[in-house]
Amino acid sequence: MELFIDTADITEIKRLNSLGIIDGVTTNPSLVLKAGKNFKEVVRDICQIVDGPVSAEVVATDYDGMIREGQELVKIHKNVVVKVPMTPDGIRAIKYFSSHGIKTNCTLVFSANQALLCAKAGATYVSPFIGRLDDIGQTGMDLIDEIRTVYDNYDFQTQILAASIRHPDHVKQCAISGADVATCPPAIIDQLFKHALTDSGLQKFLDDWKKIPEELRRIV
Ligand code: E4P
Repeated sequence: MELFIDTADITEIKRLNSLGIIDGVTTNPSLVLKAGKNFKEVVRDICQIVDGPVSAEVVATDYDGMIREGQELVKIHKNVVVKVPMTPDGIRAIKYFSSHGIKTNCTLVFSANQALLCAKAGATYVSPFIGRLDDIGQTGMDLIDEIRTVYDNYDFQTQILAASIRHPDHVKQCAISGADVATCPPAIIDQLFKHALTDSGLQKFLDDWKKIPEELRRIV
């Protein structure tokens, strides 16, 4: 499963990208607001850091506006993926983009039927929002399972990009369910590294190491 960072925070993107485990980035208007910088400059900066797909969202809600914005966004960098909301105009725009070789990410997907429409339109990615379904008392992970089944039934090539991830267990469940990508806020990626037994085990190794006479433990 690929791991994307879900942020427009350049410092965090640089920090996590340097670990070598990041495959791409997703942004949305709320994340750009938090970053407090010029949208197109942020997208350009991100593309210069991460060598992978970078989703940038259109804000027009009509078909013509989405096409105009998407065409501008892809001029920023070859790795830009046009993020389009799950609406009839959005699906129509995705169909247009996919038939013109432009990669797309259909966002704000909350049902398997919506995901079916994304795949039929030729979306590169579908973004089911797991956490927001959990927030309203549903089980977000069920949606990942349903979409996986639908896509496998018909051999749809649209990739499942699990979004709105709230805790490390979501990441594990996505990997078990066969999501293609999980996009995570930086704090969740940090948590993936952690286990209490790793910390205590490392401490014990280091303590024991110090007990070995110095002349017997030289490495460099
Ligand atoms: C995905 O592309 C979205 O940007 C994001 O995952 C939404 O997450 P949220 O529900 O935590 O805002």
